[in-house]
Amino acid sequence: MSTAAADSREAMRPQRFCPTGPLAGSFRVPGDKSISHRAIMLAALAVGESRISGLLEGEDVLATAAAMRAMGAGITRTGAGEWQVHGVGAGGLLQPATALDMGNSGTSTRLLMGLVASHAITASFTGDASLSRRPMGRVIEPLSRMGAAITASPGGRLPLMLRGATPAVPIAWRLPVASAQVKSAVLLAGLNTPGITTVIEPVPTRDHSERMLAGFGAELTVELERGERIIRIRGEAELRPQTVDVPGDPSSAAFFLVAALIVPGSVLTIRNVGMNPTRAGLVTVLRAMGGDIAELDRREVGGEPVADLLVRHSPLRGIAVDPALAPSMIDEFPVLFLAAALAEGRTTTSGLEELRVKESDRLAVMAAALTAAGARVTEKADGLVIDGSGGEPLAGTGTGTAPIATRLDHRIAMTMAVAGLASRDGVEIDDTSPIATSFPGFTALLAGLGAA
Ligand code: S3P
Repeated sequence: MSTAAADSREAMRPQRFCPTGPLAGSFRVPGDKSISHRAIMLAALAVGESRISGLLEGEDVLATAAAMRAMGAGITRTGAGEWQVHGVGAGGLLQPATALDMGNSGTSTRLLMGLVASHAITASFTGDASLSRRPMGRVIEPLSRMGAAITASPGGRLPLMLRGATPAVPIAWRLPVASAQVKSAVLLAGLNTPGITTVIEPVPTRDHSERMLAGFGAELTVELERGERIIRIRGEAELRPQTVDVPGDPSSAAFFLVAALIVPGSVLTIRNVGMNPTRAGLVTVLRAMGGDIAELDRREVGGEPVADLLVRHSPLRGIAVDPALAPSMIDEFPVLFLAAALAEGRTTTSGLEELRVKESDRLAVMAAALTAAGARVTEKADGLVIDGSGGEPLAGTGTGTAPIATRLDHRIAMTMAVAGLASRDGVEIDDTSPIATSFPGFTALLAGLGAA
């Protein structure tokens, strides 16, 4: 996050979201955040000029772009979502002159730590209060084994200092937690490591890194052995510049899918949404709850499957959500909990310990937020149990009650904004400013579709 953004973050922006009539419209959501980070990083490591369109211009991705610039890449915005990147080549990153400010972004931090780990440079990583609480041990451990020297704050947290190793040592790393960020950190470190670096994934996570590394010409293979994914990358790679078209972010589309399902009479078409199977769990779960979601015009954009999603208001019923689906919808649980709060009957979720170490503790924060808005929620160690209203609007937070605490978490803020649309009294949230990390223009888009 830039200093200007950090300053504006200090000024909290409370806002009340009021009940609305039907939502209607056809629109796109901004570019995929995961893919945007990776596009900037790989373009910055290719030899020559890449072009990216549809890039998410949220604070998280801008933090990645600023860091890659600070390490020598030429990165220029040429139009809305249009970027031109002059890469330095894998192995060519330069010593940054100042600390890399990662803002709120765990993806920037963990993936860039991977990149720096196999370069002959030292970088310090800093972040906001939310990011500085999040565990980095999960990347510190494999990157240290590859030879990086890392001095972290107590508990393996930011701020931290990382000195890269040249040559780094290739490792085989079995992921102890299902994390695409950890997988990607090790693969990106492997890019400039002699020999073959291997990541073993017992539970599949989003595969954007694998797709894009292969697209930029890295020698990367994926094999299935005894149900585990074995990903191997050959190091000292030479990446070739590419033209990347970033599809719309399914994690951003999620708020509008649920908004349309819970606001009576709504019909929305969300165009150009990424439908990579490692990201599409929410659509599966919402359909199992009775949600009417149609996929139109399935096609491929930037090496990723996309579709237009047509979603209509639907009576939802509670279900037991299969924990095996969690990695494919890990960022969508806050808004799924909201859908469950409006469903008929009970929804149970489990196996979600990872939600406690996201931008906020999403189990505790969502339990408190939905309860404050009038939903019936029980918090368990690894999930929430929600008894839905059967389609009746939530009470909301009336005037005189405290606003919902969003805890520097964009997805909590957007979820509770949508909750306001399906409430009696509206929902006031304490701070909309974190929304700019992943979805600039969210509140204007919501208002344009008919929301008050
Ligand atoms: C991401 C991976 C996920 C996700 C995050 C983005 C990525 O994190 O929650 O928003 O781009 O690789 P974990 O790897 O910690 O599960």
